[in-house]
Amino acid sequence: MQHKKLTIGLFGFGVVGEGVYKVLQQTPSLQATIKKVCIRNPNKIRNAPDELFTTDKELLLEDPSINIIVEVINDADAAYKIVRTALLNGKAVVSANKKMIAEHLPALLSLQEATELPFLYEAAACASIPVIRNLEEYYDNDLLRSIRAIVNGSTNFILTKIFEERLSFKDALLQAQQLGFAESDPTLDIDGFDAVNKWIFLLTHAYGIIPNQADLVFSGITKITLHDSHVATQKGYTIKLVAQASKLSNGKVAAFVLPQFIKMDDPLAFIKNEYNGVVIESAFADKQFFYGKGAGSFPTASAVLSDISALRYDYRYEYKKLYHHQPNELTNDFYVRSYISFDEWGDVPHDEFESIDEWHANEERKYLVGIIHFKKLQEATWWKENNVSLILMPEPLIESMEISRIKKRSLQLGTKHMQTS
Ligand code: HSE
Repeated sequence: MQHKKLTIGLFGFGVVGEGVYKVLQQTPSLQATIKKVCIRNPNKIRNAPDELFTTDKELLLEDPSINIIVEVINDADAAYKIVRTALLNGKAVVSANKKMIAEHLPALLSLQEATELPFLYEAAACASIPVIRNLEEYYDNDLLRSIRAIVNGSTNFILTKIFEERLSFKDALLQAQQLGFAESDPTLDIDGFDAVNKWIFLLTHAYGIIPNQADLVFSGITKITLHDSHVATQKGYTIKLVAQASKLSNGKVAAFVLPQFIKMDDPLAFIKNEYNGVVIESAFADKQFFYGKGAGSFPTASAVLSDISALRYDYRYEYKKLYHHQPNELTNDFYVRSYISFDEWGDVPHDEFESIDEWHANEERKYLVGIIHFKKLQEATWWKENNVSLILMPEPLIESMEISRIKKRSLQLGTKHMQTS
């Protein structure tokens, strides 16, 4: 596409769409123009000339002078149809639609192979942080040991506001909505769906894995209580919703999206409000930390802009870990050190734990810290029910081969007391 004029058909003019329109106006050097914007509701007042807008998607998809479709609408199924038609009609596509990408990843990979056209979506994960291109290009050969990330701006914003500024959950969520960080259905944010959707395709770029949502254990932040935050403070931790993928010694990958206690010297502790962050640990580069705004109009538009710009030189994702390396495999055969808080002893199956290192039985809100096999969490629902809150401890992963040594030490310390009175 080098030397080609970039003529854009834009789908969606919400928080992100309007942001894309504005940043393109401020970057004339890119020589990219929006020819038409397809919107659903023609009656809304918009800050752009009326003649730009249409409700007829064919005007964009069938216009041969439009060579790029930028898709930033909410509806994941409608978005997939737009992307599919655009690629089949010979147009490059830029999208920010994480739900659509996560739900249609295998089909989108096939479409890219069949059409040999670019489909870029840097804005779909961590907004302004160029995480996908880094995973694709920079970590092509260096062995990725782990990625730990905060990938949802709204939940990080809410956690910051309630635990540091003592706002109520409801008010913090309202602010996240007003500032344009939250999804139009905010349960996608607070129940962890948005984060796990992003994690699905980040795992493809990092490790060549194409997981289904059901393959990944995940939860959101709605179960975290003020009491949990007090325990975190007592222990010198903060609480974050963390997406993690770690390569185990058997070469398989442990991956999940769960709340975690984070030590204050961990770079993730530093991430506040709508910011996102990614800590990548690799064999040769060691630890690197990427930090930036993970939600909001301009930060998201900046990543869309960067994708549009990359289309000038016909940049495509190669999915190197998937196609050029031996793809990795997910596993649930490992253990996690977890903090569980709850109201009733009967709500937590203590016998499922390998060891229990802390019991706090005599408080109104009870809690324990123990080690449990991950497969047991994956197959169970008790930790999502009855007001139970599960938060992983710092450095939560324990490999199977380490478990007997850790259990032995735990027993020697006499920590498995069952004072369930
Ligand atoms: N609702 C998303 C978030 C928007 O809060 O991270 C950016 O993907």
